[in-house]
Amino acid sequence: MITALVPGSFDPPTNGHLDVIERCVGIFDRVVVAVIRNPSKTPLFDASEREELLRSCCGSWDNVEVDSFSGLLVDYAEQVGATTIVKGLRAMTDFDYEIQMAQMNRHLSGIVTLFVATKPEFGYLSSSLVKQVAGLGGSIDALVPDVVAAAMKERFR
Ligand code: PNS
Repeated sequence: MITALVPGSFDPPTNGHLDVIERCVGIFDRVVVAVIRNPSKTPLFDASEREELLRSCCGSWDNVEVDSFSGLLVDYAEQVGATTIVKGLRAMTDFDYEIQMAQMNRHLSGIVTLFVATKPEFGYLSSSLVKQVAGLGGSIDALVPDVVAAAMKERFR
């Protein structure tokens, strides 16, 4: 049984995140999607809300579990029995930061990080831009799952 860990801020989850999770569903036996609980940042949605949104989006996949974590990612990976971390890569700009984290995590515990190339049409998509567009009254309907779009509309009402 191979467990993959897909960690992130997911504030909010986007179609890009769901694309990466969907790829993992077809490759790994078990997929743990983990929301970081970060008290030093003020997110738009708190960790429980982000977990709830992800659960709604991932409900049709039997091998996906949604959870949250704080502290070191490698410690959490050990706790849930994950042997692989999976991250999405949109462009070379992601690579610089992602490779640093992957190498640090490898240094800390030896864990493997796999990168999934996102769909080209999601290359410009990020949670922060989605928040900016929604906050300024633009349409995010094509960028996030319906349940997330509804939650964003409610939050910015
Ligand atoms: O969605 P994001 O912002 O790219 O997610 C970043 C995340 C949660 C994967 C990253 O911040 C993380 O792994 N945080 C845990 C802290 C940690 O383990 N740091 C040391 C290794 S880089």
